[in-house]
Amino acid sequence: MSKDHLLILSSPLMEKEVVLSGIRPTGFLHLGNYFGAMRNYVRMQDTYHCYFFVANWHSLTTHPDTKELQNSVYRVIAENIACGLDPDKVALYIQSDVPEIAELYLYLNMLAYKGELEKTATFKEKVRLQPENINAGLLTYPVLQAADILIHRAVKVPVGKDQEQHLEMARHFAERFNYRYGEVLPLPYAFNYGGELVRIMSLDGTGKMSKSENQLATLYLADEEDSIRKKIMKAKTDEGPAEPNSVKPDYIENLFTLMKLVSTPGTLQKFEDDFNASSAGNCVIRYGNLKKQLAEDMARFIRPIREKAADIQHNRPLLQKIIHQGADKARASASETLKLVRQAIGMNYG
Ligand code: TYM
Repeated sequence: MSKDHLLILSSPLMEKEVVLSGIRPTGFLHLGNYFGAMRNYVRMQDTYHCYFFVANWHSLTTHPDTKELQNSVYRVIAENIACGLDPDKVALYIQSDVPEIAELYLYLNMLAYKGELEKTATFKEKVRLQPENINAGLLTYPVLQAADILIHRAVKVPVGKDQEQHLEMARHFAERFNYRYGEVLPLPYAFNYGGELVRIMSLDGTGKMSKSENQLATLYLADEEDSIRKKIMKAKTDEGPAEPNSVKPDYIENLFTLMKLVSTPGTLQKFEDDFNASSAGNCVIRYGNLKKQLAEDMARFIRPIREKAADIQHNRPLLQKIIHQGADKARASASETLKLVRQAIGMNYG
């Protein structure tokens, strides 16, 4: 083999790209989390160098009461494994176990401006939702998120549509760091297989599925079958399309999106065809039937995840082993980045 050939094989370009993503432990995980994020994690673990974590520091910005926090953290870890993450293939860890993130957060805070932080959509929404607790952590939330990502020099970040702006901000902070101190931090991008980032709506069509709001219109990975059926049967529909091949209203599109996730291609196609053939006075599609089918398929899809997550969640020794192993892997990578960051800034004495 020629020397050049060897060089190419050992070039950093041949290394696996780094992937990172996180979930806040602020409640039960739902189909939005699964579809927008976790489904991608599971696919990415065989191809990339993956870091996935539970963002327990971030949860303090909105949930200062920590009574439920520990259980929630264990549940998020258990649910991720139940969905197919293999802790031997990825680093699965808890944010507060990696203090290097806090130091990078500090440096990045000097490169983040009050004006841009105040303009962030998630900050404005939180100000509206919790006017009594507009804390500095809430304002600098995107800076901590950038530190989470940049500490591993991750370039692909599998997230749902709601995180797009945070990713853009992470790129700005990285660019400013590189401009001021030298090229250390690669620019991270939001990622979803298939290109478009996903946004799963709540079943009543009033907003996105969320861990802590509108629980009757959100499908949780811990939901029992009865509850899944009831929620889906109550999902918002209408009298059907006015003309053949109509554009679907967003709440109908959402049902089809969920069906695509859990039903067979044949079932999906049948309801698509019925929808496209329907018009006012000739409504071929039966939303009642669609919901019944979706409810059965969803119950079948969620059952093994719910059961496996419950088993793992009660196995504290196993969870603790996984968490320690994850923290070790994450700290090894984080301390390497921090060394480069300190060197670049000139924070390396003696
Ligand atoms: P969080 O905990 O709100 O959500 C976790 C992941 O689920 C996605 N998601 C959705 N996707 C589609 N439809 C929905 N209805 C839906 N609801 C949630 C989110 O986009 C996310 O990918 N700020 C982050 C946590 C975080 C993070 C990070 C993520 C902290 N540091 C670094 C990536 C990288 C959050 O609150 O996610």
